[in-house]
Amino acid sequence: MKKIPSSEITPESLYLSRRKFITQAALVTAGAGILAACGGKLGGNNSTSTESNGTAGITPIAGAQTDEYGRELTEFDAVTNFNNFYEFTTDKGGVARLSQDFKTRPWTVEVGGLVNNPKTYDIDDLLTRFQEEERIYRLRCVEAWSMVIPWMGFPLNKLLKEVEPKASAKYVRFETLYDPDQMPGQNSSWYVWPYVEGLRVDEAMNDLAIISTGLYGNRLLPQNGAPLRLVVPWKYGFKSIKSIVKINLVEEMPTSLWMAASPQEYGFYANVNPEVDHPRWSQASERIIGETGRKPTLMFNGYEEEVASLYSGLDLRKWY
Ligand code: MTE
Repeated sequence: MKKIPSSEITPESLYLSRRKFITQAALVTAGAGILAACGGKLGGNNSTSTESNGTAGITPIAGAQTDEYGRELTEFDAVTNFNNFYEFTTDKGGVARLSQDFKTRPWTVEVGGLVNNPKTYDIDDLLTRFQEEERIYRLRCVEAWSMVIPWMGFPLNKLLKEVEPKASAKYVRFETLYDPDQMPGQNSSWYVWPYVEGLRVDEAMNDLAIISTGLYGNRLLPQNGAPLRLVVPWKYGFKSIKSIVKINLVEEMPTSLWMAASPQEYGFYANVNPEVDHPRWSQASERIIGETGRKPTLMFNGYEEEVASLYSGLDLRKWY
C-alpha cells in the first residue's frame, strides 16, 4: 500500500476543518472477569441512538476522508459507541450511555515531578494555550481490531517543554481521574486504580504523541476520554490513557494498570508489532471496525519511519 505524507492530505479541507472546529468547540460541551486490555464484548451493542448515548446534536466533521494509506475514517458513531473505558464498564457498547453525565468541568491537570517549572493547568486555559490541529491516526487495539480517527489535539512535547523536564527525568507517568462515585468501574478490585500509563521521555517528545482534546471536529465526549487523553498511535490502544488529571516526570519506569493486572501479558512498550503475538491474540492482521474483512497489521502501526529509531538496541520481540 502506498503511503502519502500526512502533509499532502487535502490541506485545504484540513484548514477549513480547523476553522470549523474552533467555532464548533465554543458551541459543543462534552457533557459537563478477564484481564484484557481492549477486552469486553467485541461487536457488543453498537447502538447508534443519539438520544441516549451522549452524541445528540453533534455534527461530525473531519478535514480528510482517509489516512495516508488510503484507509477510510471510521464512522463517528462507531468511534463514539464502541469504547474501552473500564472505569465505567467493560462492555464496549455501554460506555457511551454510562459516561454521558461524567463531569469534565471544573478540571485541572497537574504537570510535575522531576521538572523545573511545575504547573497546574485549568482545562480551559490549557485549551487556549496550545494550538490544536487535526491528526488522522490509526488506533490499533491489542485485541486485533482497529479504527482510523480524526483527532484534534496538540503535541505532548509542547506541554512537556513548558514544564522543563530535568535531566534526571527518564519517564512520563500519566494518571486518570480517580472518582468511584462517577466511575463505578473503579469499585472493581480486579484492577489497581487509578488507570496509569507511561512513556519514556524520548517517546513522549516524539511529534506523533499528542494530547487529544477532540475528534471529528468536536470536543471529546466522555466515552473517548474527555476532557483530554493521550494518543500514541504506534502503540496498542491501551497506552492511550483517558481523562488525565496528572502527568509526572519520573526516574523509574511506571507500572501501568495493565502491567500490574497481568504482567505476563502486558508490558511497558506495547509497540504494535505484527510479528509478535499476544498470548491470546495473533497480531498479524486486524478487523477494521465498520468494514468487513481484515487488513494486515503494519509494523509500529504504520509509523515505523517516524519512530523505529527510538528502539534501536531494544529486542522488539519482547514487547511485554
Ligand atoms: N484509559 C482509561 N482511563 N481507561 C481505559 O479503560 N482503555 C484503553 C485506552 N485508554 C482505557 C483507557 C484501551 S484498552 C483502548 S483500546 C483505548 O483507550 C480505546 O479508546 P476509544 O474508546 O476512544 O476507542
